Amino acid sequence: MTPQQQDSAAGPHGATRIPVELGPRSYDILAGTGLFENSGVLVKPLLRRPHCVVVTDANVAPLYLETVSESLTAAGITARALIVPAGEGSKSFTQLEGLLDGMLASGLDRKSMVLALGGGVIGDLAGFAAAVALRGVDFAQLPTTLLAQTDSAVGGKTGVNLAAGKNLAGAFHQPRLVLADTGALASLPRRELLAGYAEVVKYGALGDSAFFDWLEENGPRALAGDSAPLAHMVAASCRAKAAVVAADEREAGRRALLNLGHTFGHALESAAGYDGRLLHGEAVAIGMVTAFDMSVRLGMCPAADAARLRRHLAAAGLPVRPADVPGIGWGGAADWEKRMQVDKKNADGKLVLVLARGLGRAELVTAPPRSVLQATLKEALAP
Ligand SMILES: NC(=O)c1ccc[n+]([C@@H]2O[C@H](COP(=O)([O-])OP(=O)(O)OC[C@H]3O[C@@H](n4cnc5c(N)ncnc54)[C@H](O)[C@@H]3O)[C@@H](O)[C@H]2O)c1
Ligand SMILES: [Zn+2]
Repeated sequence: MTPQQQDSAAGPHGATRIPVELGPRSYDILAGTGLFENSGVLVKPLLRRPHCVVVTDANVAPLYLETVSESLTAAGITARALIVPAGEGSKSFTQLEGLLDGMLASGLDRKSMVLALGGGVIGDLAGFAAAVALRGVDFAQLPTTLLAQTDSAVGGKTGVNLAAGKNLAGAFHQPRLVLADTGALASLPRRELLAGYAEVVKYGALGDSAFFDWLEENGPRALAGDSAPLAHMVAASCRAKAAVVAADEREAGRRALLNLGHTFGHALESAAGYDGRLLHGEAVAIGMVTAFDMSVRLGMCPAADAARLRRHLAAAGLPVRPADVPGIGWGGAADWEKRMQVDKKNADGKLVLVLARGLGRAELVTAPPRSVLQATLKEALAP
C-alpha cells in the first residue's frame, strides 16, 4: 500500500474509511472502534434537520442504544428510538407497518434520518422502512453483527420476507453512511460471530486469494476479538463487497459471484426450515465447500484449494458438511438438488452455479453437468 492509499483509508476517530463509489449515491463506510460513541458528530454533517429515529431490536437496545442516543443528543440532534423484537420474524409487513407508524409519530419528516442499529434484520427492515416512508428518507447503518458489518449493511439491498419466501419484497436504498463499530462484536454470541465469518471467508475464496492467506494467518486472532485484525478483516470485507457493488449495483453480472456457496446453502436452509438450527452463514460455509468440491470434480479447481477452504472453515468452528449440523434429518441428494433448482439466479430454467477455478477465482457456470452435481451432493451427504 502506498502512503497515499493509506491516507485515503484513514477515517475519523482512527477508523478505516472505505468509500463506496455510486455516483450521487456514494457514501462512506467507517470501520473501527468507538464509532457508536461518536455517532452524533459523524452523522451530523449529513443531516438536513437535526432529528433521527433510531430503529433497533430488543437484544441490541440494552447494549448500545444509550451510547448512540447520548452521542446524538450531545451533538444537538433530537433522537427517538423504536425497538422491535429480535429475530428474523421482525422482517415482516406487520412489523414494517408498525415501524412506519412509529416513525411518523416520532416526528420523522423528509429531512430527518433513520438509523438502523442492529444486525441484518434491523438493517433490512429499517432500510426498507426508510425507502418507503414519505417516498424515501435518508438512513444510516450502524451494524452490530459481523454479518451486517461485512455484508448486509453494504450494498443497499433492503426488504422484508413474504410467506412465499425470504426477501421477496424490498427496494434498493443506499445508506448515507455505515458505522461498523467493531467493538460491538464483543457481545455477539460466538455462533453468530462464526456465521458472519463464513461470509468474510467467502470474499477471499471468491476473488482475493491474498485475503484468504491473510485469514488463515490472522482469522483466529480477529475472531478472538483482537481489535486491529478485526478492524482490518471488516474493512477488507467491506472493500470487497463495495467494489463488486460499485461495478454492478443492481446485480446483473459480477454481483452474482457474491452468491458463492449460496445456491447450495439456501437449499439446505430451506430443508432445515429456518428455525435457528442452521444459521445462514453456517449454510454458506457448507455451500462453499460443496461448490469447491464440485469444481474439483469438474476438473476446474485444484483439490488442494478445496482442502484448504474446508480446513480453514472447520478450524474456525464452522460446519463444512450437512452432518456437522446437529439435530437435522436431511433428505437425500435429490431433495437438495430440487431445492437448488428454485434459486432465483437460475436463468431460463437453467441452473447457474458459482464455482471456482481455485481460491480467489470464482466464476459463474450455467447448466453444469447434472451427474457431477448429483455425485457431489451424494458425497457431501455420505455418512
Ligand atoms: N441486505 C443484504 O444485502 C443482506 C445480505 C445478507 C443478509 N441479509 C439479511 O440479514 C439478516 C441476518 O442478519 P444477522 O445475521 O445480523 O441477524 P440478526 O439481525 O437477527 O442478528 C442476530 C442476533 O444477534 C443479536 N445481536 C445483534 N447484534 C448483537 C450484538 N452486538 N451483541 C449481541 N447480540 C446481538 C440480534 O438481536 C439477533 O438475535 C437476514 O434477514 C438476511 O436476509 C441481508
Ligand atoms: Zn449470505
